[in-house]
Amino acid sequence: MWTMQLSGLLLAASSLTSLAAATPFSPRSTTAGNNEQCAHKALEARRSNLGALRSFVQPMPKGADLHNHLDGTPFAEDLLSWAADLGVCLNSTTALFAEGPCGPGTVAVKEADQQLYDAAIDAVSLRYSDPATLTGAQPSGHDRFFATFGRSSIVATPSAGKELAAVKEQAALDSVSYVEIMVVPPLWDTLAAKLSLASPLSANSSSGDFTALDAQLEPLLLQHMGEIRKTYDDMEAVATAGCPERAGCGVEVRYLATALRLMTPAQVYTMLYTSFALQKADERFVGVQIAQAEDGMVATRDYTLHMRMFRHLHQRFPAAPAALHAGELVLGTVHPRDMRFHIREAVEVASARRIGHGVSIGFETNSTGLLAQMRERGIAVEINLSSNDAILGIRGEEHPFQFYRAQGVATVLSTDDSGVLRNDLSNEFLRAVSEHGLAYAELKQLARNSLHYSFLDGSSLWKDVVAGQRVRACVASLDDEGCKAFVKGSARAQLQKRLEDDLARFEASLC
Ligand SMILES: *[C@@H]1O[C@H](CO)[C@@H](O)[C@H](O)[C@H]1NC(C)=O
Ligand SMILES: *[C@@H]1O[C@H](CO)[C@@H](O)[C@H](O)[C@H]1NC(C)=O
Ligand SMILES: *[C@@H]1O[C@H](CO)[C@@H](O)[C@H](O)[C@H]1NC(C)=O
Ligand SMILES: *[C@@H]1O[C@H](CO)[C@@H](O)[C@H](O)[C@H]1NC(C)=O
Ligand SMILES: [Zn+2]
Repeated sequence: MWTMQLSGLLLAASSLTSLAAATPFSPRSTTAGNNEQCAHKALEARRSNLGALRSFVQPMPKGADLHNHLDGTPFAEDLLSWAADLGVCLNSTTALFAEGPCGPGTVAVKEADQQLYDAAIDAVSLRYSDPATLTGAQPSGHDRFFATFGRSSIVATPSAGKELAAVKEQAALDSVSYVEIMVVPPLWDTLAAKLSLASPLSANSSSGDFTALDAQLEPLLLQHMGEIRKTYDDMEAVATAGCPERAGCGVEVRYLATALRLMTPAQVYTMLYTSFALQKADERFVGVQIAQAEDGMVATRDYTLHMRMFRHLHQRFPAAPAALHAGELVLGTVHPRDMRFHIREAVEVASARRIGHGVSIGFETNSTGLLAQMRERGIAVEINLSSNDAILGIRGEEHPFQFYRAQGVATVLSTDDSGVLRNDLSNEFLRAVSEHGLAYAELKQLARNSLHYSFLDGSSLWKDVVAGQRVRACVASLDDEGCKAFVKGSARAQLQKRLEDDLARFEASLC
């Protein structure tokens, strides 16, 4: 951990002077109250010390984390404790999880010494990985990151309920009130194996090919939807045991049903169809996603095919919003031609309402036009600074965060895979200040954006979130009877009201 903090410190120190000076405080709204000024001053007084800055951002109410993966969020220490519960052992040579019962060559987690325990943590996270060595020898941050999921699944998969409880606890520790969690619905391999295809799906497949699959998937899903939904009932039953006493019980959760882009075309189509159908059938599911290494062989080959699958399924299930991982690429990871169109196709073909990552925006053909389109359509970009640093080696001014902001494209901050990356949302806010020079009003804007651009049901409290202009019923005061009725009728506005109240308390505490 200390190596990462150390490099963070050096980085912050070197980028601080230029950025802080370049981004003077300009209050977004003229009605910014006196208490907001207190928060502004408190942050500025702490700007040059990362410890002090941490003490500011940690309790700051942040609204939502819109981009995090169920299997990437639990920390290794928790996985180790759940392994002990499951009777899963550690291979004493590799420190990887191994099936029980423990015997020669394996050790029960409870019997592990410090050295084995440390090695086990490092094997399922990016602890002690130095981003500076990304381009050097040893497995890169990218490879280490993606290797962890296969290593932890033996413990993570049967511990889904504990994972959910861990996500909620982490949100509470970060002063986050709402999370949209990516989960991969079960049964996709079984269902995909039942499909019969006239010809394999390829970039040339037509909508007719998809329709033929729909005819097979529809009855299969009808038959299995109950079983799929029960997975989540069971998960929630475990996660809410012991509530409301445990940390995180008050955190609201919704799910993004997520397909994996490295699977065969028929499997990806099955996962996407299942995801869209689940979003329609179950109100806990508010949108659809696609994830996994975008620079992988299959992901690159089938990128356009996947976007066309989204376009087809949007016609069949028009109400399902999509947030897509797109543009998680840096020069060198793929052929340069593959850096030119991923974000555009996610927007234009797959109708993404949010883009996850978007790091390669500068490489897109006609990126200025694309950005204008994103601004006009109100498409937000989910930024995760630590993840991009650890996996792609992109940090500070190399990151297009400020480019998006300058072009008027909405952004939100998110964690991605806290447990693997060993970060938290407070640290993302900290980096936004220390590496990108943001001031308090801009952090507050990011927090408000997170709920405004979430896929929660119901109208937003904001008529114009950037201008800080509330809907008519709430213009005068959040405590008007008309506003209370408006808030009561919208799940989204309820959390937005809670954020405004929390922010007001936070600011008052700094006066
Ligand atoms: C431990 O891992 C090594 C290396 O992969 C493997 O050869 C060995 O069989 C494993 N031991 C046990 C007991 O599973
Ligand atoms: C797709 O169609 C193009 C022409 O329309 C053809 O050249 C290409 O070979 C086809 N690819 C596949 C995989 O069928
Ligand atoms: C954050 O990084 C992860 C891992 O690189 C990626 O999967 C995701 O798309 C990124 N999300 C955002 C919002 O940048
Ligand atoms: C650039 O993209 C915008 C938005 O998609 C489009 O309107 C414009 O025509 C494009 N310009 C060029 C030169 O392709
Ligand atoms: Zn992600």
